[in-house]
Amino acid sequence: MFDFIVEYIKKPTQIGTFLPCFGGLVDSVISNIDFSNDLTILEFGPGNGNFTKKILRKATQKSCLYSFEINEKFYENCQNIEDERLVLVNDSAENISKYIDKKVDVIISGVPLSALDKKLRMKIIENSYNFLRKDGKFIQYQYFSSAYSDLKLFFPSIQKYRVYFHLPPAIYYFGQK
Ligand SMILES: C[S@@+](CC[C@H](N)C(=O)[O-])C[C@H]1O[C@@H](n2cnc3c(N)ncnc32)[C@H](O)[C@@H]1O
Repeated sequence: MFDFIVEYIKKPTQIGTFLPCFGGLVDSVISNIDFSNDLTILEFGPGNGNFTKKILRKATQKSCLYSFEINEKFYENCQNIEDERLVLVNDSAENISKYIDKKVDVIISGVPLSALDKKLRMKIIENSYNFLRKDGKFIQYQYFSSAYSDLKLFFPSIQKYRVYFHLPPAIYYFGQK
């Protein structure tokens, strides 16, 4: 928690919020995923790892989670999560192709899309779309709805959900390729 506040003060637009995600939001987002199959999952912006740990708890033993975290401190903290299914990458979400050469089943993104410059935002969304397999799921959680129109360009039937039981109140988008 303390690291989160410090990192937010240093880089507010990169972190997006001064508090890590907790229970209500994590559970709502995760409830959209069917974990009964072996999955390849991409996570963007694990932060303090709340989503990461929950995903690993739910995923099958043959599933694989690639988590891209651009922030050095959060990347270091996430290295404490000991699980051989987790591949931690200290790089930006737009560089997927440097590390992965296959289609994935699910992408869960917490990068503050609304705060990024338009070019980077579009690149992350477009890459996500390209790396998803057919019918693959894309979930973006955030605190502002300003990226909606950009997400809709690639995921025309994307749905928006609000999570009020969270500080700050959050929204997430759920789309399918
Ligand atoms: C709103 S926080 C989400 C934190 C986290 N998932 C949690 O459980 O609290 C946004 C996260 O995205 C990361 N981030 C921002 N831009 C990124 C990028 N281009 N690629 C990867 N991670 C990024 C930040 O460092 C931060 O960890």
